Amino acid sequence: MNAKIILLPGDGIGPEVVAEGRQVLEAIAKSGGHTFSFEKHLIGGIAIDEQGTALSDETLDACRQADAVLLGAVGGYKWDDPSAAVRPEQGLLRLRQELGLFANLRPVRIFPQLVDSSPVRPERLKDVDMMFVRELTGGIYFGKPQMKEVVDGKRRAVDSMVYTDEEVRRVVRLAFRLAQGRRKLVTSVDKANVLESSRLWRTVAAEIAAEFPDVTLENQLVDSAAMRLIQNPASFDVIVTENMFGDILTDEASVLAGSLGMSPSASLSEGKLGLYEPIHGSAPDIAGQGIANPIGTILSVAMLLRNSLGLEVEAKAVEQAVARAIEEGARTADLGGKHSTSQMGEIIRSKLA
Ligand code: IPM
Ligand code: MG
Repeated sequence: MNAKIILLPGDGIGPEVVAEGRQVLEAIAKSGGHTFSFEKHLIGGIAIDEQGTALSDETLDACRQADAVLLGAVGGYKWDDPSAAVRPEQGLLRLRQELGLFANLRPVRIFPQLVDSSPVRPERLKDVDMMFVRELTGGIYFGKPQMKEVVDGKRRAVDSMVYTDEEVRRVVRLAFRLAQGRRKLVTSVDKANVLESSRLWRTVAAEIAAEFPDVTLENQLVDSAAMRLIQNPASFDVIVTENMFGDILTDEASVLAGSLGMSPSASLSEGKLGLYEPIHGSAPDIAGQGIANPIGTILSVAMLLRNSLGLEVEAKAVEQAVARAIEEGARTADLGGKHSTSQMGEIIRSKLA
């Protein structure tokens, strides 16, 4: 097949890990007779420096016309000033919104060989296999009003958590569809004992559940879900939740796997176009040293092959290649090893049957 893929390396370790992701895609194209074309664009801090904006209209248009987008990370010390008019993260948020990427899939799986890198006891990690579906274009990230003002000499700032029933419906429905192909349990996480938007969320989730008699729905409050993630992570299958709860819980869950560097993500729209990125950030402390773990990006490439290009066999091959590299002892610094980013990439590519 032919596919056009936009690369947005971004900041920090982004370019280092995206380079490895691209090489995996090239290897897949070569062995499967596919033609993937790549176009590189700027996003985040580097785009602010070179174009004066965290995401230019040109980059956005290029993404709109592509089959998939592979992103590294955005942000860094240089652009950290909270009073700055433009911030790297705005590029990512605009991209999500403009491309209609309403569902963020973040799988959490544990490689048995890495249980000792996890702060959680090995017996609790047995059989952990969950899929987060984080709502990505609504909630408190985008709700209006969002502003700061001075009232009677006092500074005040406002964010709003807003959801329409349609926004809840489409993401919860996607979670149920995913659950049908898995263990058929959806945990919908909210704060319905306090928030009006969560009560709407819970009502709509129940309506969707009625469409899927083969799938069980359970509701859980976000604070107790945060505890259960550590105490009994294997009891989750698909977890669906609003934007900010999902942001927080997915960082927590990624720790189970032993390193933030291992976790991939896919941000999906109504159509085939998707954005794929590791869930880790730009890690400015280790940028440029060639020691970042490329696995989060390479597993994101597997999700890209699966979700945007419909290449399930190739997606599995990439996932298996990562598993084999880990089995054979390949470890970057975050996993207590000495393999460089490019060595890890090379070992994984050598396992692509
Ligand atoms: C994430 C990140 C982003 C978010 C930031 C960089 C805006 O933390 O993808 O989880 O909060 O969504
Ligand atoms: Mg986050």
